[in-house]
Amino acid sequence: MSKHVLAAGFCLFALSSYAAEGPGFDQGVSIPAIGLKTSAHPQDGPSTWISVATEDVVSLKAAGFLMSAPLAQSGRAAIYQVSEASLPQISRHMHERFHRCGGFFAHRTLDDAKRDLSDPPEGAAPAGPFTVDQGAWLSPVLPNVKEAGIRSTIETLAAFQNRYYQSSAGVDAARWIGARWQELAANLPGATVRYVAHSGWKQPSVILTIPGTESPDEFVVLGGHLDSINLSGWGDENVRAPGADDNASGIATITEALRVLAQAGFKPKRTVQFMGYAAEEIGLRGSQEIAASYSGKKVVGVIQYDMTNLNSSGDNVYLLGDYTDASLTAFLGKLVDAYSGTRSIGIRCGYACSDHASWHRAGFPASAAFESQKGSMNQHIHTEDDTLANAGGDSRHAVPFAKLAVAFAVELAKTSQAPRLDGSLTKR
Ligand code: BES
Ligand code: ZN
Repeated sequence: MSKHVLAAGFCLFALSSYAAEGPGFDQGVSIPAIGLKTSAHPQDGPSTWISVATEDVVSLKAAGFLMSAPLAQSGRAAIYQVSEASLPQISRHMHERFHRCGGFFAHRTLDDAKRDLSDPPEGAAPAGPFTVDQGAWLSPVLPNVKEAGIRSTIETLAAFQNRYYQSSAGVDAARWIGARWQELAANLPGATVRYVAHSGWKQPSVILTIPGTESPDEFVVLGGHLDSINLSGWGDENVRAPGADDNASGIATITEALRVLAQAGFKPKRTVQFMGYAAEEIGLRGSQEIAASYSGKKVVGVIQYDMTNLNSSGDNVYLLGDYTDASLTAFLGKLVDAYSGTRSIGIRCGYACSDHASWHRAGFPASAAFESQKGSMNQHIHTEDDTLANAGGDSRHAVPFAKLAVAFAVELAKTSQAPRLDGSLTKR
């Protein structure tokens, strides 16, 4: 039985090449490579390289999807070249036939893929110590987090036809986020917004930077993916993919935190960055490129928000315990207790299910907050039915997540001046 069991819903592809991450990983399986033609033909359009966990190779080959010999392999994973267009078919097949996520990680180049065969670097710096001592700053500020603020951002983002990484609507949605963040940054002296262009697709990532007053070279990162997908309409520029929960909700949650921080005149000692990642739904690609670009830098902590709106297993913040840093996650638990108004519960995805895994793989302390237990996850994600109405209709569930985001920024970056409490900017 594989460890990559998705209890319900839809999956695309997932990284499973860290033998250390899960039980039951069989490093001893050899990969037959006999008489097979390549599965990436020139006429299939662009190629991509996928790293496949050794245990998954057998089932994928049996299903006829891996027709080529591996281009490289280690005890734990193998690299295959496939056409980009074939990825959703593989993914859908894995989901429909095996009711599980395939063990893939998509890479732009063969060299990138080969790097995935080696061990992830150990954390660039030991995580922590993490202290909780900003209550005086936070307690008058946290009540400014508003359900309506989160809801209205979800509504706007879900109204784009889709936020697909290859579509013009996907580019427009990224630009809307950049413009909204820019508007909020106007109240944070020195803050800037930039778009990160990616070489393999149209949609940019978005990064807002609030420079640190004392340690500008130390980074605190809050992020979520800004793209959406409809797995039945892969490749169609005009397919409807509202992605209200997955993941307009995560972007809306951090945007509300940003609004509240700006209103309070947040002046962090460390540099704080808000990130909207492109192209998560097709293999964590935007975040992989961004995390790789922080090599050699000091990233104190990363939090990922991917799906915060649907209350399907209780009024809690669910903290991911795999592909994350244990001490940072324990710290998040303390922040939830101190500031969010609710409690945390630990869960596991079982595979590299979102952008936190890109940071983790790059050796930085990462964490992630999720809306529910895996077993009761939103059944509508990756379809045209991932709407706000199908994710509770309002955003009350996401409010503690936004409070956690405010606390995460303030407690990890610390502050260099008292909050501004004059009520300006309270209007959404
Ligand atoms: N939001 C999901 C991740 C998720 C889904 C977490 C359900 C917890 C429960 C994310 O956008 C996603 O779809 N991830 C892919 C994997 C990724 C590597 C393409 C998935 O889960 O199949
Ligand atoms: Zn998704």
